[in-house]
Order: sequence, then structure tokens, then C-alpha cells
Amino acid sequence: MKNQAITLILAPLQGFTDVTYRNVYARHFSGMDEALAPFISTMGQQRLKPTRIQDVAPERNTGCFIVPQILGNVAEDFTFLADHLYEMGHKQVNWNLGCPHSKIAKKQRGSGLLLYPEKIDALLAGIIPNMKPSLSVKIRLGRRNKDEISALLEVFDRHPVDEIILHPRTGEQMYTGSSDLDAFEKAEKASRHAFVYNGDITDMASFNRVRARFPHIRRIMIGRGILANPFLAEEIKGMDSGDQARQLERLRVFHDDLLAGYDKIFSGPGHLTGRMKGFWSYLGPSFDNHKKPLKKILKATTIPAYTDRVKAFFDLSLAFNPGRPL
Ligand SMILES: Cc1cc2nc3c(=O)[nH]c(=O)nc-3n(C[C@H](O)[C@H](O)[C@H](O)COP(=O)(O)O)c2cc1C
Repeated sequence: MKNQAITLILAPLQGFTDVTYRNVYARHFSGMDEALAPFISTMGQQRLKPTRIQDVAPERNTGCFIVPQILGNVAEDFTFLADHLYEMGHKQVNWNLGCPHSKIAKKQRGSGLLLYPEKIDALLAGIIPNMKPSLSVKIRLGRRNKDEISALLEVFDRHPVDEIILHPRTGEQMYTGSSDLDAFEKAEKASRHAFVYNGDITDMASFNRVRARFPHIRRIMIGRGILANPFLAEEIKGMDSGDQARQLERLRVFHDDLLAGYDKIFSGPGHLTGRMKGFWSYLGPSFDNHKKPLKKILKATTIPAYTDRVKAFFDLSLAFNPGRPL
């Protein structure tokens, strides 16, 4: 089998890859080795939000090895949350230094902190020796421009981080443009730390481009590409996902299981259909001639309308043809 030496990591996608998704996905698809859970914010005054903590409870995360992620910029709040996660059983936590959203960045959290390498330096000095788990970081090239990474890498070189997950875009770019492989190469070469590649892998061609360019990188993270094509990890690992008919059937059963999982959690049709429509916005475009039937699903406001339209969509037996740009 191909690419057995590669560790595939499911990217954190807030609003998508929560424990319900991770467990259902792991029941239906193979090839993914680990997952980084969507971020948990520090809350100040040493408080914890139970629903967010529950997402990473080991007894609920039976399908896949996970690492929790923390979003924050106060050392004491960070170590408080990290130690709580350690007591729950997590030996490593990840620091979110990549979230691009301006509301978060303005508060000097996520990619907003990348403008302040000296603050990151002080935070790492305050966090790492004072918490029980070890730390990895997830970063972008910078907040405003990709040269900001040089000063950041010097900072990380001074601290014992486990690995650096780099999504080679700037924060302000959000998801526009494309992942900058040249900038990834430059950063990886300049750092003493191990790197994880993350960004824009949607099919074998984009995966192979990254592999050919960075043959020594053994840990690769994929997010939106898995939502668009849940078979992608199997394909990368050289597993047989079945023919078109089998794949359609697998997607249908996966969908129904996901819907049942969220039905237990969300109250009200708006929440449930809203969550499911999010998945369709990535999965739907992977089918040929998806436009009209997908639009119908995305316009459903009641659960019966939603389920009828999903059934109609699958009954069309459209060709599943993933790999379109995200
Ligand atoms: C809807 C959405 C939610 C995300 N949530 C998180 C998050 O909680 N933590 C994080 O570090 N990155 C988050 N990201 C960024 C992804 O983890 C990943 O870095 C990015 O999508 C690029 O990888 P991809 O091209 O494989 O999707 C999010 C991205 C999207 C689109």
C-alpha cells in the first residue's frame, strides 16, 4: 500500500470536525491517523466551558487519536486549561496562532498574534515550563505579509515546541489565493523544528505535489479536502474505496449516520439543517451536475424537506468526481 509512512492528520474545522463528526467519519472511512480538534478558547479567571471540554473527552473520542487545540493569549489562562486537558489524558496540546478571522485577530489571538513575535516569545516562556502537556503550534506565514514568519521562526527556535504546523498563507489572505509552497520550503529550512504541511490538498495530484516537493515531511494535515472527498485519506494510503456505486452508497450511509448523530445534539430544525448544509457546501460540488439538486438541499428549512431533498440528490446517482479547487 502507498504512503504508509505518512501520518495523515484531520485539520481542525470549527463547526465541522467536532467529536460527532470525528467519530462518524472514523466509523465509515479509513486512512486518517490523527485529528487536531477545533480550538477551545481560554476563558480568563480560570473558568472552563464544559461543552467545549466535552468535545475532547477521551471517553467520547473513541474513533481517532486527537490533540486538543487552545486559542488564547494569557499565559496563566492557557496553562490552567492545558493542565485540565492533561488531567483528562491529553499529553500534548496545540496553540492556535493561525485563526484568520478579524474579530479574533483584533484581540491579538490566532493570527492576530503573529504581528507580535516578542509577545509570542514571552508567552512561550510563560507557558511551556509551567504546564504539564507538551506544546505544538499551528501557524500561518504572518498576519499581513509572508515575511513576518522569519522573526517568528527565530522565536520558536528558542523554545521546545514539538512541531510546527504551517498553513502557508497569511491571516489576511483568509482562504484566497493558494498555499505558498515556496514560502513553506523557506520557512521549514530556516527552522530547527519538525514541520507539518497543511493547505489545499484536495486530491492525489495536490497531495503528490506536496510529497514530491517535501519528501522528508512525514506528517500532513488535510481539512476541507476531506469534507469535499471523505475517501481522500483512503486513496492516499492506497486503499480500495469501491466503485462509483459502492462509493455513493457509502456516502449515503455516512450522511445518514452524521444526521442521526447531530439530531441527538441539536434542538430545532434550523440548527440541525444548518449544520448539515455546511457539510453539503463542501461535499455537494464534488458531484457532476450538482448545481440544481444541491441548491434545493441548501434551501431546505425543515427536516422533512431536507431529508427528502437529500434522498432525491442521492437517487440521481450523479457521478462523484471530487478534486475541484476549494
Ligand atoms: C470552517 C473552518 C474552520 C476552521 N477552524 C479552525 C480551528 O478551529 N483551528 C485551526 O487551527 N484552524 C481552523 N481552520 C483552518 C484549517 O484547520 C486549515 O488550516 C485550513 O482550512 C487549510 O487547510 P485545508 O486547505 O486542508 O482545509 C478552519 C478552517 C475552516 C475553513
